[in-house]
Amino acid sequence: MLENTLVLLKPDAVKRSISGEIIARFERRGLTVAAMKLMQVSQEQAKKHYDEHREKPFFGELVDFITSSPVVAMVIRGESAVKMVRSMMGATNPLDSAPGTIRGDYATEMSKNVIHGSDSPASAEREMNIFFTKDEIF
Ligand code: CMP
Repeated sequence: MLENTLVLLKPDAVKRSISGEIIARFERRGLTVAAMKLMQVSQEQAKKHYDEHREKPFFGELVDFITSSPVVAMVIRGESAVKMVRSMMGATNPLDSAPGTIRGDYATEMSKNVIHGSDSPASAEREMNIFFTKDEIF
């Protein structure tokens, strides 16, 4: 099924100037960019985005990191885009992410793991609304 998914290239990715390489991977695979912007995430957006982790000990760290400098926010579209992007990202912990995946190729730390992708179509819908207005999604 044709799906949209929310992708964030986190502050570490933007700082390291690897955004283009990561976007190219999605495009090469056949996924398309339906929305994209460089943006400073607000505290409010960050807290909403990470709501499911609110009780976790690392919640503050997550919010601090994602708001520390600009991110590239994107809506990526394609057949089963949610699952496809997750598999291209690799495991959350870079120690477990296979070479060839984005985290397996670019990340070494759990907290600075380069990229976020929605974990389900329902999360994608919720998260897209945090970062984009309807008319920014093409
Ligand atoms: P992401 O999938 O973008 O959203 C939740 C994030 O929490 C995840 O990426 C990791 O960066 C982070 N995370 C998960 N578990 C831990 C942990 N034990 N310590 C620090 N960060 C974590």
